[in-house]
Amino acid sequence: MLFDLGFLGGGQLARMSIQAAQRMGLRCMSIDPQEGCPASQIAACIQAPLNDVDALAELLRNCYRVTLENEFVPAASLRQALSQAERDESMIIPGLDTLEIIQDKLKQRERYAKAGIPSPKAVAIEDDGAMAIARIKFPMVLKARFGGYDGRGTRYVQSSEDFEDLRSLWDDGGWLAEEYVPFKRELAVMVFRSAHGVGAFPTMETIQTNHVCDLVFPAESDATEIAVNAVESVEGIGLFGVELFQTSDGKILVNEIAPRPHNAGHYTLDWGGASQFDQHVRLVLGLPTIPLDGVPVCMANLLGIENVGPWRKAMMEMLAEYPDVRLHWYGKEDIRPGRKLGHINAVGAGCLERAKAARTLFLEQWRAVQESGHSR
Ligand SMILES: Nc1ncnc2c1ncn2[C@@H]1O[C@H](COP(=O)(O)OP(=O)(O)OP(=O)(O)O)[C@@H](O)[C@H]1O
Ligand SMILES: [Mg+2]
Repeated sequence: MLFDLGFLGGGQLARMSIQAAQRMGLRCMSIDPQEGCPASQIAACIQAPLNDVDALAELLRNCYRVTLENEFVPAASLRQALSQAERDESMIIPGLDTLEIIQDKLKQRERYAKAGIPSPKAVAIEDDGAMAIARIKFPMVLKARFGGYDGRGTRYVQSSEDFEDLRSLWDDGGWLAEEYVPFKRELAVMVFRSAHGVGAFPTMETIQTNHVCDLVFPAESDATEIAVNAVESVEGIGLFGVELFQTSDGKILVNEIAPRPHNAGHYTLDWGGASQFDQHVRLVLGLPTIPLDGVPVCMANLLGIENVGPWRKAMMEMLAEYPDVRLHWYGKEDIRPGRKLGHINAVGAGCLERAKAARTLFLEQWRAVQESGHSR
């Protein structure tokens, strides 16, 4: 076996998992269509689409265990690749049955309903949509059953006119209509579950801007129990990011589960204890997880902005002004507006304000560099 761990996807989640694995001396490989992707800069990478069965089989053949950084690799392609590589399904964490449920937002909702876990009511949109409208009513949220991320497959719908305007999206099938939840806040819990037991990192509050995760900080409520129940309902083994809504009367509902490390767990890189990536590596290898302990940390995402120029000078200025914040930059070569490029963690008292202030300074400086046309 040439590699200990294989990653389906080579973005920042694979890169940070590989960094944790490499500290333990493990050899890693990823597969990703993009040349120069974040994981390929620090470890071996097969450059191929994630539904390329031959390339998947090569990864499976060469790795002891394989895991994923997004839930979009079709489970059917993985089954085919396993048989081609003559490897057993148990080498992939999370299991393929769990992946198959999570890949389909409608199947997820059905699982939660069956297990009695509060979650927004959702139905498939069929025919002319009349049944979905009658059952869900307005306002509602339309969601792509498969492949949505950063809100790309999510639309708010207030009325039958809005619904009709979006006909070109749902007409071909593959969309669901979901009850709109007027939540007070969004929460997230990183849950892990294996033969060694079940555990969870502290509950965090998350703020999304334009559907993209923007800020993460310690929550006042504890959503551990419902998050663990949600992972149990999909029979998940491994690490899971559970996204939740909390309403103004304190009720907590499950939005969705990601079967992998998650943006809401990036704070653990600097909380002093085991990070979500350390736990992920151990879970994939079938090892017991590390007992959890850490201090409060707040995280601010760094997203690409319009008319991008060089960012290093701005970053240096930010770090000179805020030496106590921890910078994580993913090394993406293609800097597009809204793309997740890195994040800042601030530790301890007042961390949310410091994370936000450091980010503001970075963005101001970055814009200034573009305007003055510096070359670095
Ligand atoms: N039923 C709902 N009611 C109200 N708001 C919702 C609902 N579903 C989703 N949203 C809002 O849209 C955001 C994105 O939705 P969701 O997480 O389902 O999609 P996604 O594309 O998988 O997003 P991501 O990749 O960022 O997790 C949520 O974080 C929430 O802010
Ligand atoms: Mg989500």
